[in-house]
Amino acid sequence: MTLSSLLPMEIAAMRFIDLPQVAALEAAAQVFPWREEHFTDSLHAGDRGWVLWRGAQCLGFVLSMHAADEAHLLNLAVAPAVQRQGLGAKLLRHVLRDAAAVGIRRMYLETRASNQRAQTLYSAFGFQEIGLRKAYYPNGNGREDALVFCASLDNWKE
Ligand SMILES: CC(C)(COP(=O)(O)OP(=O)(O)OC[C@H]1O[C@@H](n2cnc3c(N)ncnc32)[C@H](O)[C@@H]1OP(=O)(O)O)[C@@H](O)C(=O)NCCC(=O)NCCS
Repeated sequence: MTLSSLLPMEIAAMRFIDLPQVAALEAAAQVFPWREEHFTDSLHAGDRGWVLWRGAQCLGFVLSMHAADEAHLLNLAVAPAVQRQGLGAKLLRHVLRDAAAVGIRRMYLETRASNQRAQTLYSAFGFQEIGLRKAYYPNGNGREDALVFCASLDNWKE
C-alpha cells in the first residue's frame, strides 16, 4: 500500500487547468482518445465535467451535455491501473445524480459495439439499447458501429 492510496477520493468539477491530466488519462485508457483540445472545446461549450481525484492524482473523469430535459453522456474513463475497482460506477452514479438534480429526465450515450465492459456497466445502471449508428466510430482499418443507449432518470431524483 502506498501513502497516496490512503488519501480520500473526491469528485470535483472539471477545470481547464485539469485538462492536461484528463487528456493524459484519456490517452492511456482509450484506443481512439479525445485530444486535449476536445476537452477544452467541451468545457467552453458549457458541458458538465467531473474529475475523480485521490490527492493530486486524476483517477477518472466523466463529461455530459445537457439540453432541455435530456442529457448526453459524452465521455467516461478510468485510469487503467485502477479499473475494475468500482470507480467507473462511482462516476456514472455521480453524473446521473447531477443530471437528475437539475431536472434532466433521460440520458443518452453511444458506445462502440465492441466495448462490452462499458455496455455491462451501463446496463447495470438501467441504460437500455435503443438503436445503432452504422459505421459511427473509426477503428484500425475501417469504421465501427455505435450502440445507442438511453436511461430514464426518474429514479435518480433525491
Ligand atoms: C468502462 C470503464 C469506464 C469502466 O470503469 P471501471 O472503473 O473499470 O468500472 P467498475 O469497476 O466501476 O465496474 C462496474 C461494472 O462494469 C462492468 N465492467 C467493468 N469492467 C469490466 C470488464 N473488464 N469486464 C467485464 N465487465 C466489466 C462490470 O459489470 C462491473 O461490475 P463488477 O466489477 O461488480 O462486475 C473503464 O473500463 C474504462 O475507462 N474503459 C476505457 C474507456 C471507455 O471504454 N469508456 C466508455 C466509453 S463509452
